[in-house]
Amino acid sequence: MTTALITGITGQDGSYLAELLEHRGYTVHGTVRRHQQVTPTRHLCDLTDTASVDKVVDEVRPDEIYHLGAQTHVGESFKSPIATFDATGAATLRLLEAVRRIAPQARFYQAATSELFGISPAPQSESTPFHPRSPYGVAKLAAYWAVVNYREAYGLHASNGILFNHESPRRGAGFVTRKISLAVAAIKRGDADTVTLGNLDARRDWGFAPEYVDGMHRILQHAPGDYILATGTSYSVRDFAEHAFAAADLDWADHVRTAEAQQRPADVPDLVGDSSRARDELGWVPTIHTPELARIMVTADMAA
Ligand code: GDD
Repeated sequence: MTTALITGITGQDGSYLAELLEHRGYTVHGTVRRHQQVTPTRHLCDLTDTASVDKVVDEVRPDEIYHLGAQTHVGESFKSPIATFDATGAATLRLLEAVRRIAPQARFYQAATSELFGISPAPQSESTPFHPRSPYGVAKLAAYWAVVNYREAYGLHASNGILFNHESPRRGAGFVTRKISLAVAAIKRGDADTVTLGNLDARRDWGFAPEYVDGMHRILQHAPGDYILATGTSYSVRDFAEHAFAAADLDWADHVRTAEAQQRPADVPDLVGDSSRARDELGWVPTIHTPELARIMVTADMAA
């Protein structure tokens, strides 16, 4: 039986990935933070503490590690850049060190991100230069290169999945898609009338999270390397709002307000991924695009 360790198992991606791996016959372990419940397969682990990271790798002795745990809010990273660097950048190095010393046969997946590209022009592929635009992006860039370095220096089976935005009804309420779908549901119920957003012009390549965790698994079954997962389509935040409100028979323009306070000191204007390599080498093809995604999220929030 294959044993997997998922850091960040309680997050959107961690929860979908755990379900997928269990369905495929894996024994799945995960790390949780202090306030969460510990069980034989849920280990207390502080990714900013080396001894704690070593302990979980030693206890689980995983065949595959999916490192998804991090401070993942880009806007927040401007408010706590150093804590973000520790939890998002240095933590990856801690885990790689533990793998190198304790479980060097383990396959290692790093949750890299399209935020690495920042202001590099779209469409972005694996050969597009990186130019991150936030402390989060900078930390993820360090983590990306740590993975490449440990692969080259020590021969670890370590890969980066450079995932473009991927969403679902399990997405945290602080991200723009879920903020919008929750607002649509509240407005439809009569509990709110407006939602206040920041930059409506930002363009993202939004896919459906369950399809992306399948991509993560495919990456680890292949020779180690770095892969983009993206739909190849681009929509603005305004477009997403339009689709989400339309799914509830509402007009976004009647309910969306903007405020300077929601803007970031530096933003990423336009992300569209070219995932040809993943399609050709892994057979990974996403099927759900932004209009359907918005409908799925709004429908789930209206039903809740
Ligand atoms: N969160 C948020 N809230 N974003 C807003 C808002 C708002 O009220 N209004 C406009 N935006 C804009 C942001 O400025 C950004 O340009 C875009 O909407 C998307 O923001 P998020 O949904 O917060 O996601 P993100 O693209 O910054 O980051 C997410 O995707 C990355 C992959 O590209 C996160 O999941 C990252 O962890 C992930 O790496």
